[in-house]
Amino acid sequence: MASDHEFDAVALAWQRWFPQMQAATRPVSERMVALAHIGPGAHVLDVGTGLGDPALLAAETVAPNGNVIGVDISPAMLSLARKRAHKDGVSNVEFRQVEEDDEIPAGPYDAILSRFGLMFVPDLDRALAQYRAQLRRHARLVAATWATAPEVPQISTPMMVAAELGFVPQSPAPPTGSPFSLSDGPELTRRLEGAGFVDAKVEPIDITFRVESPEAYYRHVADVSPSVRELLATLDGPSRAELKEGVEQAAATRFGRPDGTVAMTNRALITTASNP
Ligand SMILES: C[S@@+](CC[C@H](N)C(=O)[O-])C[C@H]1O[C@@H](n2cnc3c(N)ncnc32)[C@H](O)[C@@H]1O
Repeated sequence: MASDHEFDAVALAWQRWFPQMQAATRPVSERMVALAHIGPGAHVLDVGTGLGDPALLAAETVAPNGNVIGVDISPAMLSLARKRAHKDGVSNVEFRQVEEDDEIPAGPYDAILSRFGLMFVPDLDRALAQYRAQLRRHARLVAATWATAPEVPQISTPMMVAAELGFVPQSPAPPTGSPFSLSDGPELTRRLEGAGFVDAKVEPIDITFRVESPEAYYRHVADVSPSVRELLATLDGPSRAELKEGVEQAAATRFGRPDGTVAMTNRALITTASNP
């Protein structure tokens, strides 16, 4: 990861933008839970749960006698996930903090899920072997990651505009810990197979993020994205204004709708693999 608990700094922003983000990403959770082959009574782990996704949907699916543990390294994210569970009256989910390279809580699990989390795990091969060791026989790991940067404008537009303006290098290789570090689907399946998983398969899913205006898109991305916040902190006032204008213009011209709203279609990859 770029820095320890970088998601702590954006947890409240994630809560502010939760309705728009949830509307876009809910279909990913639904597909993940379907692919996990879980039902009432199952015991499930969600790695990098953030505000509780897909842990809370899995908890509904395994109720009344199943349960879910959501783990994350960010105490701020976990605290909001607990509040959400409380507000929604979900009692069969528990949120626990882990350290970056920590062991996950002991299983055995009937499924392990991770939505947009594995890209940030530093020693992924070690982690995948550990996940497999805690899965029951034939149980599945289901992970969502982002496709390549151009296929995910919701996240990549500011960096693309920053590169066009010369504020960052053109198309750097996505570093480990970037949202795009697992955008090559076959690479994750190879690594899962290297960790002893079998039947690894990837399927794409396209989801649409909508906001009311190009200005709202800029406010959103400058609020929720750790890497955009890091970039903004390195720029002086005029450069920040230039970036804001460029991002709003890109949102309007490339993704603007006749009614003035912005709709960005983004590709995620859902990878499923089984413990033999
Ligand atoms: C992009 S967010 C995804 C959150 C949620 N799963 C979702 O889809 O909305 C990534 C989350 O992974 C967490 N994370 C990063 N590195 C981690 C690690 N090594 N172990 C567990 N969680 C981690 C971050 O704190 C953050 O909450």
